[in-house]
Amino acid sequence: MASTSLPGGTWTLGDLTVTRFGYGAMQLAGPWVMGPPADHDGALAVLREAVELGITHIDTADAYGPHVTNRLIREALHPYPESLHIVTKVGANRDAQGGWPPARDPESLRRAVHENLEHLGLDALDLVNLRLGNAEGPQPGSVAEAFGTLVELQRQGLIRHLGVSNATPEQVAEAQTIAPIVCVQNMYNLAHRHDDELIDALAAQGIAYVPFFPLGGFSPLQSSALSSVAARLAATPMSVALAWLLRRSPNILLIPGTSSTTHLRENLAGAGLSLSDDDHAELDKIGR
Ligand SMILES: NC(=O)c1ccc[n+]([C@@H]2O[C@H](COP(=O)([O-])OP(=O)(O)OC[C@H]3O[C@@H](n4cnc5c(N)ncnc54)[C@H](OP(=O)(O)O)[C@@H]3O)[C@@H](O)[C@H]2O)c1
Repeated sequence: MASTSLPGGTWTLGDLTVTRFGYGAMQLAGPWVMGPPADHDGALAVLREAVELGITHIDTADAYGPHVTNRLIREALHPYPESLHIVTKVGANRDAQGGWPPARDPESLRRAVHENLEHLGLDALDLVNLRLGNAEGPQPGSVAEAFGTLVELQRQGLIRHLGVSNATPEQVAEAQTIAPIVCVQNMYNLAHRHDDELIDALAAQGIAYVPFFPLGGFSPLQSSALSSVAARLAATPMSVALAWLLRRSPNILLIPGTSSTTHLRENLAGAGLSLSDDDHAELDKIGR
């Protein structure tokens, strides 16, 4: 396994070694993830800084912009270092109002995979997550047809590894009856703990859990317990939230988003914060 001095060390997704501290590119698009960034060069600088700092896992989707973040990633980083792994997702489009309508029929999924390949400038995608549910969260229903379509594209050599996102535990289990998955990407953070059991079950199987909105997403985490632990440790609440996630389970990989190199550096440094058992227990109560 490759060595890294980044907080949390590394994790293996299938045959791909990534730093547990990754980067989520969604915030690089314009407001509400629509259109280009206000500061194009600033967005390129964040991506380059992430790689220079040693991050080897970038999370993206062609729906961001749409097509904006993938093109920024290509412009900033192509040809990609061998160690860098870009994880994308398919299964949702954008509408004129900025909504995220599902697009999980076989034709839409095939088109999305080809568009990701084109916009990222790749011959094969390292890891594709099938995004399920809707903006309200996971919704029940069979994943067989949609996941089967991605398995077909994997067999054609266009995708190396598969995962699911915004999924119920039942959908995770159903996908696993069709083909192996290497990760689940669901909403989870200090205050939003619906997936506690799923995280532990995936850890026992050696499958990564990648929380989206690790810092609370569009409404950053706010809690008096978080602020008081952060004050006691002379750290920022964001650092404490990330350090808590890294300690929560070894299969948790971080993809915090930011459009700022200052926040990126701050988050990376802060995630290495060491939490005592008492700190961890106090933080643990927030979402319970
Ligand atoms: N699978 C899915 O359905 C799904 C859904 C949503 C997101 N995602 C993925 O998950 C990633 C993470 O989610 P996210 O970016 O939406 O939310 P997040 O990581 O929870 O939070 C990002 C927000 O926190 C702010 N922030 C970051 N560091 C900060 C700091 N040190 N101090 C103050 N504010 C800070 C950012 O603002 P600044 O830009 O000002 O730093 C941004 O507004 C996304 O990038 C995307 O790749 C996946």
